[in-house]
Amino acid sequence: MSVATVADHRIPQAYADTLCMPPAYADGRIYETYRWLRANEPFGMAKVEGVDPFWVATRHADILEISRQNDLFHNGDRSPTLVSQEADQKVREMMGGSPHLLRTLIHMDAPDHPKYRLLTQAWFMPPSLKRLEDQIRAIAKATVAKVAAKADANGIVRCDFVQEVALHYPLHVIMSIMGVPESDEPRMLKLTQELFGAADPELARESGTPPEERQIDFGVIIDFSNYFRAISEDRRAHPTEDLASLIANSRIDGQPISDLEAMSYYIIVATAGHDTTSSSTAGAFWALAERPGELAKVKADPSLIPSLVDESIRWTTPVKTFMRTATADTTVAGREVKKGDWIMLCYASGNRDEEVFEAPDEFHVDRKPNKQLAFGYGAHLCLGQHLAKMEMRILWEELLPRISDLELDGTPAMSEAVFVNGPKRLPVRFKMS
Ligand code: HEM
Repeated sequence: MSVATVADHRIPQAYADTLCMPPAYADGRIYETYRWLRANEPFGMAKVEGVDPFWVATRHADILEISRQNDLFHNGDRSPTLVSQEADQKVREMMGGSPHLLRTLIHMDAPDHPKYRLLTQAWFMPPSLKRLEDQIRAIAKATVAKVAAKADANGIVRCDFVQEVALHYPLHVIMSIMGVPESDEPRMLKLTQELFGAADPELARESGTPPEERQIDFGVIIDFSNYFRAISEDRRAHPTEDLASLIANSRIDGQPISDLEAMSYYIIVATAGHDTTSSSTAGAFWALAERPGELAKVKADPSLIPSLVDESIRWTTPVKTFMRTATADTTVAGREVKKGDWIMLCYASGNRDEEVFEAPDEFHVDRKPNKQLAFGYGAHLCLGQHLAKMEMRILWEELLPRISDLELDGTPAMSEAVFVNGPKRLPVRFKMS
C-alpha cells in the first residue's frame, strides 16, 4: 500500500480553523467538525495561521494507537497542549529554550516520567482511595444538605448547578486531600478557572490582551506557584499525612524533588483534580435534566450509577485535546508522519466514534460496553481516574434518591476552551425530598 503524503491530507480550512477556535468548543460546532473529519479525513493535517501545522487524530482507534506508543510519540518535545507560535516563542524566551512553563507529569517522558509518576501512583489507586470513601461521602452529604436548604415551602430548588454544586464538591475533595485549608478554596477555584478559561471572556483574568488571543496566562501560573511554595515549605518543616507532604518530601534519584517539579506536581493535581470532575458532574446533570426517562432509569436502579458516571465522562469529555510529538518517521492510519511532527488527539471525537459507540450522540445511563477514552491511554493514563469516578458515584448515591421533576430553568452555557472545557452555567429546577 502506498503511503499518502501531507499534501493529499490537508484538512479543509474551515474545519482546521474550527479546531483552534475556543467558542467552537462551547457552541457545539466542534462536534460537526469531528463528525466530518472522522468520515472524510480521520488523520489529516491542519494548517492554521499563527499555529505550527499539526496532524489531527479523530478516530478512537488512532487516538489509542498513538497514546499507547509513548516512545514514538512524546509529550515533552513540544508543547503538550495546542499553543500559538507567539505563545510558544514567549514561553521559550522565558524558560531558556524549553517549550514548557511547568514540568508536570504531562510534560515528561521516560525515563523521568515513570519516576515522578511512581511518587504518588499508589496513593491514587483504589486500595488506597478506599480509606477516603467516608471522608468523601461526608463532603457529598454536606453538599446535598446545602442544596436541600435552598428548597422553598414546596420542596422546589432552583439553582445554577455549576455554581452551587459541581464546582465546589470536587474542589473541596481534592483540596482536603492535598491539605489546602478550606478558607483558600475560593482562591484555588478562581486560579483554576483563570488557567483553563484563559480564552473565555467570562472566566479569563482581566488583562490588556483580548481573551480570544490568550492561551496561557503567565500571571496565573506565578500565583499558583507562590501559593504552593508556601505550602511546600510548611510541609517540609511539619510533615503530615496529606498529599502535599508526600510531594514536598519526595526524592528523585536520591535527591529532594526540585522546586519547579514540586510546584508543577501541586498545580497539576490541584487543577486536573477538580475542573474535569466538575465538568463531568455538571454534564451528567444537564443530560439528565433534558432526559427524564434516563433519570427515571437510574433512580429505579441505583446499580446503574457507575455506568451513569462512565457515560457522563464520555458525554462531556472535559479534556478535549492533548498534543504529542513524533520522535521518528512513522506512519499513522496510512499517513506518513515525520520526526518532530505535532499531533492533536481529539478525545471528544474518539468518544463519539460511530465505529465504537452505538448511537454515539445519545446519552444512555446504561450504555454497555462503554469504551470511553476521556482519561487518555498509555503511560499518561489519568492518574486521578479512580478518584474522579469515586467522587461522582458517591455524589449521585447521595443526591439522586432525593430529587425528582428535574428540568432546565434557563439556558445553560459551556466554557470556551480548546484544552479543558465544560458547563459553566446550568440553571435547573427540581424537587427535593
Ligand atoms: C472526569 C475527570 C477527569 C478527566 C476526564 C481526566 C482526564 C485526563 C486526561 C485526558 C489525561 C491525559 C491522559 C493521556 O495523556 O493519556 C489526564 C492525566 C492526568 N490526570 Fe486526569 N482527568 C480527570 C480527573 C483527574 C483527577 C480527579 C485527578 C487528580 C486528583 C487527575 C490527575 C491527573 C494527572 C496527575 C494526570 C497526568 C498523568 C501522567 O501524565 O502520567 N485527573 N487526565
